[in-house]
Amino acid sequence: MASLLIDHVGVLVTNDPELGPGPLGLIEDAAIVFADGVVAWAGPRAALPEAAADERVDAGGRALIPGFVDSHAHLVFAGDRAGEFAARMAGVPYHAGGIETTVAATRAAGDAELDANVARLIAEAGRSGTTTIECKSGYGLTVEDERRSLQIAGAHTEEVTFLGGHVVAPEYRDRPEEYVALVCGEMLSACAPHARWIDVFCERGAFDADQSRVILQAGRDRGLGVRVHANQLGPGPGVQLAVELGAASADHCSHLDAADIAALADSDTVATLLPVAEFSTRAPYPDARPLLEAGVRIALAADCNPGTAYSTNIPFSIAVAVREMGMTVDQALWSATAGGAAALQRRDIGHLGIGARADAALLEAPSHLHLAYRPGVPLIAAVFKDGTRWPSAID
Ligand code: NIG
Ligand code: FE
Repeated sequence: MASLLIDHVGVLVTNDPELGPGPLGLIEDAAIVFADGVVAWAGPRAALPEAAADERVDAGGRALIPGFVDSHAHLVFAGDRAGEFAARMAGVPYHAGGIETTVAATRAAGDAELDANVARLIAEAGRSGTTTIECKSGYGLTVEDERRSLQIAGAHTEEVTFLGGHVVAPEYRDRPEEYVALVCGEMLSACAPHARWIDVFCERGAFDADQSRVILQAGRDRGLGVRVHANQLGPGPGVQLAVELGAASADHCSHLDAADIAALADSDTVATLLPVAEFSTRAPYPDARPLLEAGVRIALAADCNPGTAYSTNIPFSIAVAVREMGMTVDQALWSATAGGAAALQRRDIGHLGIGARADAALLEAPSHLHLAYRPGVPLIAAVFKDGTRWPSAID
């Protein structure tokens, strides 16, 4: 595979403290070499070895960052819920039951339609700098619809999550315990071979702590890693359950008390914040500062789904997290790259240290600070995936 030198990088964000100061491992007036799909060299231009690569791109002083790692997305669905969003903006509150609208549309859709929608959303995410994206099922809620959702997701990403425990399927509304048994039994058997993770929506209107624990333990017994939709709509047991089960990540974390924060700080569980969900449900934003002060690792993800957050745009999430959730730009960028990788327990992505996967985004800006300083502006000049320009059509 050819090697590629990106030269004249104004600011290079490596997320490797051995390569530069701070958690972002910043290098000014930098260069980076990709070879065989990984980072072969990174440092100040002045130290660049001669004949470093076969090809050269002149970054013209632009900033280069690790590609975003979006660790939370629900991309396998049909239809949209623009009307529900409009009603919410007119004052109707969000409730978990809206998920059923998308379940009906998803069940009615053919595989090709679902596949095309996932492809469209991943391409959209790529255009805003996302090079790795997790993808959940959860809008099928039958054995076959959950299985095919995972198979479709798996054609596009390695980070596939079984979310049969999204809400109780409508035909089981009056028999939730039977639905939990289905999820842990026949549905899990059909789905586990197609997934890396299991997730559950632990929330009023979805699954309580005991139901969630049973579902997550069943998945863990089948070798799946654990993640939890926790404390999104109100205070609740989700975060404590995530920590108890050694989850990779507790996601949303919008309503935390001091004990939740202490439990996260004492654990390896990452807190994943999803500001677009608060934006699109007009809910109060969580304050990231107590988490950061307690030393909790934070991931920032987009939560793309048709109900509460129909956006794939991580720069938008960064801007909102900085403006509304008390994060610095550096913290928000770290969380959307290295934090996302930590939430997926990946060491090969989310940074540009030597040997990391060569996934990066070139910004139409002299510094990464512009990601929040210039909200809403398309700042992604180019994306590199496994060391090559991606997709080549964006030239
Ligand atoms: O992450 N919280 C649960 N799941 C989604 C919402 C799903 C929907 O409303 O369709 C979320 O916000
Ligand atoms: Fe979600």
